[in-house]
Amino acid sequence: MATRVPVWFSLLVVWIAVACSVTEISAEETESKQEFVLTLDHSNFSETLSKHKFIVVEFYAPWCGHCKKLAPEYEKAASILSSHDPPIVLAKVDASEEANRDLASQFEIEGFPTIKILRDGGKGIQEYQGPRDADGIVAYLKKQSGPASAEIKSAEDASSLIDDKKIIIVGVFPKFSGEEFENYTALAEKLRSDYDFGHTLDAKHLPRGESSVSGPVVRLLKPFDELFVDFQDFNVEALQKFVEESSIPLVTVYNNDPSNHPFVVKFFNTPQAKAMLFLNFSGEAADSFKSKYHEVAEKFRGAGVGFLLGDLEASQSAFEFFGLQESQVPLIIVQTNDGKKYLKPNLEPDQIASWVQDYKEGKVPPYIRSEAIPVENNEPVKVVVADSLNDMVFNSGKNVLLEFYAPWCGHCKKLAPILDEVAVYYEKEADVVIAKFDATANDITNDSFDVKGFPTVYFKSASGKILPYEGNRTKEDIIDFIEKNKDNTVQQKSESPKDEL
Ligand SMILES: *[C@@H]1O[C@H](CO)[C@@H](O)[C@H](O)[C@H]1NC(C)=O
Ligand SMILES: *[C@@H]1O[C@H](CO)[C@@H](O)[C@H](O)[C@H]1NC(C)=O
Ligand SMILES: *[C@@H]1O[C@H](CO)[C@@H](O)[C@H](O)[C@H]1NC(C)=O
Ligand SMILES: *[C@@H]1O[C@H](CO)[C@@H](O)[C@H](O)[C@H]1NC(C)=O
Ligand SMILES: *[C@@H]1O[C@H](CO)[C@@H](O)[C@H](O)[C@H]1NC(C)=O
Repeated sequence: MATRVPVWFSLLVVWIAVACSVTEISAEETESKQEFVLTLDHSNFSETLSKHKFIVVEFYAPWCGHCKKLAPEYEKAASILSSHDPPIVLAKVDASEEANRDLASQFEIEGFPTIKILRDGGKGIQEYQGPRDADGIVAYLKKQSGPASAEIKSAEDASSLIDDKKIIIVGVFPKFSGEEFENYTALAEKLRSDYDFGHTLDAKHLPRGESSVSGPVVRLLKPFDELFVDFQDFNVEALQKFVEESSIPLVTVYNNDPSNHPFVVKFFNTPQAKAMLFLNFSGEAADSFKSKYHEVAEKFRGAGVGFLLGDLEASQSAFEFFGLQESQVPLIIVQTNDGKKYLKPNLEPDQIASWVQDYKEGKVPPYIRSEAIPVENNEPVKVVVADSLNDMVFNSGKNVLLEFYAPWCGHCKKLAPILDEVAVYYEKEADVVIAKFDATANDITNDSFDVKGFPTVYFKSASGKILPYEGNRTKEDIIDFIEKNKDNTVQQKSESPKDEL
């Protein structure tokens, strides 16, 4: 699964968090006796793969606690599944071992344990997203090794397959053959890890929708909006697009209910701009907000904006991420793909539609996260915030060395006293400023600064040249660099932002 999901949300999705990082180190090792799980390494991996149409491989590290916890369950599942017909083979690879590094990178292993389901000698690769206890693993793998789409022969079959909180896709066919059926099966195979599929000869087994249709028709049952949708184009690509688009709610709900989380993941994986309305779901005005918001989402359907409704109770990490305050709730924030944000705090239900309209028409100025401009800025190293970046850096007419830092960053802490010394050295030179910018609390509004790690140091000369500082982090080297690149200027306090070249 491609994950463009923001950090604040992915932290809440349990199966992403239950993994050891590949860089985590621990010396502790245990050997557990095992028989059913195959041990593979670089020397026999491909050979083993070619022998099994369906094989499950755990990439682990011996020191990883989550792997150790999984080991007995995985072994038990392997023993149960060895007598399945046909047998299902579970294997493991020590991905921390130097000799297996190529395998680990081939399968894009980013944490331990990572379990992959490999089909047809590795032609089909699927992420294991099931439970981590033996019974759960067995049930999940039985389903994954079986047909991608289950036949529904009765209303009982239907009710056991159809879960009211999930999306289920059912193909209704007059017969289980022909190009439509083959295309449907191909799609089910392709999307089997993300959705549940079924097929039936009789639409009356299904809980929703016209029961007299004989097909071929694809019916997508969903726990929101219109509750089901029918589709009749059996082109594989068109079917896939239909499934993906229909499975995003008009308004995605984000709260503490984990059954909503898969939809939140889908919401963040769409390419459109994202509008997020945060409010207290238990508050008095909640219903009126919800209905107005749905109207707005309906109105802007297909206009390149997705809509999410978030409960304040569940949104603390989102608030930290965006630098929002509870006192601003109810609020709506739009985030575009190029990272721009637009905000309306303390919103009324009746303002939603007009504000979104204004946003669409480009009438809303971007929201820039900034700390307050400090009243006193008397330390040798000056504090720059988003709101003072233009005045203190771009339009100051001075030579500015600017450090982008994070309060938690160790290298930044080491650099701080050195910057202090540099700043003291330049205290008498009014046209040289040493400054720092907390990039975790302020948006960087100028593309000239490419900040990918901390600390990142830039120099802007009085005339406007912008250079990254990549030298050694010593007082001498920094001063040398400033001396080499600064412009001598008499313009000390410029009212005009014009560069003088
Ligand atoms: C693969 O090779 C390793 C190392 O030689 C060995 O320990 C393991 O048993 C082999 N696995 C299989 C399935 O042959
Ligand atoms: C089946 O899918 C293929 C590939 O998308 C397409 O060319 C073909 O027209 C489809 N068949 C039907 C009956 O829709
Ligand atoms: C949400 O509203 C309810 C009812 O007014 C209140 O009891 C609760 O404290 C509020 N929650 C938050 C996080 O403000
Ligand atoms: C960034 O700053 C430079 C120099 O002042 C200016 O030319 C440029 O337009 C700014 N870019 C943005 C996106 O503000
Ligand atoms: C940084 O310091 C190292 C070791 O003192 C030196 O070899 C290197 O040339 C220095 N780099 C720069 C850019 O001055």
